Parts: sequence; structure tokens; C-alpha cells
Amino acid sequence: MAHLLVTGGAGFIGSNFVHHVLEHTDHHVTVLDKLTYAGNRASLDGLAEDRFTFVQGDICDAGLVDELFSAADAVVHYAAESHNDNSLHDPRPFLDTNIIGTYTLLEAARRHGTRLHHISTDEVYGDLELDDPARFTEDTPYNPSSPYSSTKAGSDLLVRAWVRSFGVRATISNCSNNYGPFQHVEKFIPRQITNVIRGIRPKLYGTGENVRDWIHADDHSSAVLTILERGEIGQTYLIGADGEKDNKTVVELILSLMGQPADAYDHVTDRAGHDLRYAIDSTRLRTELGWQPRYRDFEAGLSATIDWYRDNESWWAPTKDGVEAFYTSKGQ
Ligand code: NAD
Ligand code: DAU
Repeated sequence: MAHLLVTGGAGFIGSNFVHHVLEHTDHHVTVLDKLTYAGNRASLDGLAEDRFTFVQGDICDAGLVDELFSAADAVVHYAAESHNDNSLHDPRPFLDTNIIGTYTLLEAARRHGTRLHHISTDEVYGDLELDDPARFTEDTPYNPSSPYSSTKAGSDLLVRAWVRSFGVRATISNCSNNYGPFQHVEKFIPRQITNVIRGIRPKLYGTGENVRDWIHADDHSSAVLTILERGEIGQTYLIGADGEKDNKTVVELILSLMGQPADAYDHVTDRAGHDLRYAIDSTRLRTELGWQPRYRDFEAGLSATIDWYRDNESWWAPTKDGVEAFYTSKGQ
């Protein structure tokens, strides 16, 4: 039994991880989350009270972070500003949380000798051409495109430097696009599902040819737990489940799974600097640590996700109008 501190545990992937850990291990979990617009305390409702503690606070608060590290056996760091479109509109919070916040955690890990796992993204590698058979590996050079991905790249480099210079016991994972329950309606898949529920036509940026490599959030959680248990200190692991799909195909699938004509969507203004394609080669994680994804059927996973949004309108409804008003103001 261990005590895990999970930053950003009220967000999409962090909350999925907390549910996964409480279901599959006997660890105690403390969540540290600021509850920004992206955090939702309700995503952690119903967890066993004797194994779960929630602390509302900022990862940039060095005093609070120090106190929480002193009680933790290991830290899993999910907290971040995570949305590319917001980073194009207002980059500053991305610098604060993604860079200074990660620095604050690294300094605490250094003082306490705490094991740290840093959650990152495949976007640090930039993008691939649509017709390029290559996929990202742990050796692909960093080449981030957006304020979001550049601050994530910066945070990864801080982790590497603290491992090498100060002996911090850290690992890093870079995962592809996640889908599943508890994802904010600003993101692509939940935005389109909730649009259809509300009678709004789905919105596709540009041509819709851009490719993302989809993985279910629960498979991301099992991979992170595997790295925490068996990963080599100082190592980076790419997490992916061979789920490449172009955006147009995903929108058409959502529409047909929801009983609508597959072409009932609109093309809208493209994202500035829009990355073309992400694709992950997760050979290291699979061969060295023996991890395998469980959700191999994207259509079945998407269908279950649609059901979750239909069944949990009270979770997403309070944020929907504000998100759509923001996108409309940007022509998206
Ligand atoms: P999210 O936006 O849904 O959640 C982020 C959480 O962090 C929220 O609960 C928010 O309240 C919290 N937070 C933000 N700033 C904070 C601060 N200063 N102090 C404490 N808490 C703070 O994000 P997500 O999609 O769940 O992503 C989680 C992590 O996974 C991020 O590091 C992201 O870069 C990474 N990631 C995401 C994806 C994806 O597809 N969503 C893929 C790969 C990696
Ligand atoms: O690759 C991992 C990354 O995946 C994570 O690091 C990010 O935190 C996460 O947000 C996600 O980034 P993307 O920018 O790929 O995700 P998003 O859901 O914003 O968009 C997915 C694709 O869909 C992208 O090509 C843009 C497009 N899109 C998005 C929205 C919101 C649309 O076509 N229409 C939309 O309405």
C-alpha cells in the first residue's frame, strides 16, 4: 500500500487515473487540484472516503506542495493548462502552471527524495506529414508548435535536467489524444457529442484531414501505473494504442452513432498553426514493461463515451453555453 499524490486529479485524465487506481490497487490517493475552469470536483464523487483525500490548491504554491510531498510515497503530475485553442488566445496561464508549477514540484521532489512521474504529450514532437509512414518515438527531436505544447516541452526538459543534475527520481510519459468520460466539452470529441445532443451541428476545423492517434483514458491510466511500478528512473515512455483517425472520420462516426446523417456538420475557421498528424510508436512501453491497451475497438469506446455524455448532462451542461460562445466569437 502506498500513498500517491495526484496533481490535476479533478481534470479529465487525472480523474480517470484516480478511479483506475482506487479500483485496481490498494493505494491511498491525495488529489491536489486548483479547480480551474477545467477541473470538476464532481468527477471524483463516490470514491472511498478512507482511501481518498481532496485538497484544493495551486501546484505553484511551494509551501502547500512541500507539505503534501512530505506525506507522499510517489507523485503523479497531471496538472496543466491543457487546451491548444486557449493557449493561442491567452498563453500566460500555460507558462505559470506548466512551467513554474512543474518547477515547484521538482524542487519539492528534490528536497524530499520523492518518486515523481511527469505526464506529458506527444505534441512536444511537433507534427508529421499526412502521407509520412513515420511515427514518433522516444528519440524524435522536440519541435512543439503551440504555446501549450511548447510549455509542455519546457516542463519535460526541466524534469530531465532535475534527474541529471540533482538525482531526482523521475520518469516521463508522452501520450497521444485521449477520449472517454469526464473530458471537458471544449475538446473535440465531447464538443461534437454535446453539440449533437443540443441540436447544434458539429464543427470541423479546416478540411478535417488532420490526424490524431486516439487512446481511451483508461488505457492511459494503466500505462501510467505500469511506468510508476516498473519504469526505469530517468526514462521517457511514449503511450499510444495505434488509434490514428482523421477528424472528418471521427465526426462522421459520432453523427452516425447518434442517428444523424454523416454529413450534418460544418467546416469552420482552422486553428492557427494546426498540427497535421500525430502518431505514436509505443514499442518501448510494450516490450520493456509489458503494457498492452485494453480498448482496441475505437467505435465501441466512442459509443460508450456518447452514452456517458447522454447519461451525465448535469456534469457538462453548466459549461456548454460559455464554451460555444467562446468558439463562436472566434469563428469556430
Ligand atoms: P484538463 O484540462 O482536463 O485537467 C487539468 C486539471 O489540472 C484540472 O483539474 C485543473 O483544475 C488542474 N489545474 C490546472 N492548473 C492547476 C494548478 N496551477 N494547480 C493545480 N491544479 C491545476 O487536462 P487533461 O486533458 O486531463 O490533461 C492532463 C494532463 O495530461 C496534462 O498534463 C496534459 O498535458 C496531459 N495530456 C493530455 C492529453 C489529452 O488528450 N487530453 C494527452 C496527452 C497528455
Ligand atoms: O496529442 C495530445 C493532446 O491532445 C494533448 O496534449 C492536449 O492536452 C489535448 O487537448 C489534445 O490536443 P488536440 O489539440 O489534438 O485536441 P483537441 O480536442 O483540441 O482537437 C483535436 C483535433 O480536432 C484537432 O485536430 C483540432 C480539431 N478540432 C477541435 C475542436 C475543439 C475540430 O476540428 N473541431 C473542434 O471543435
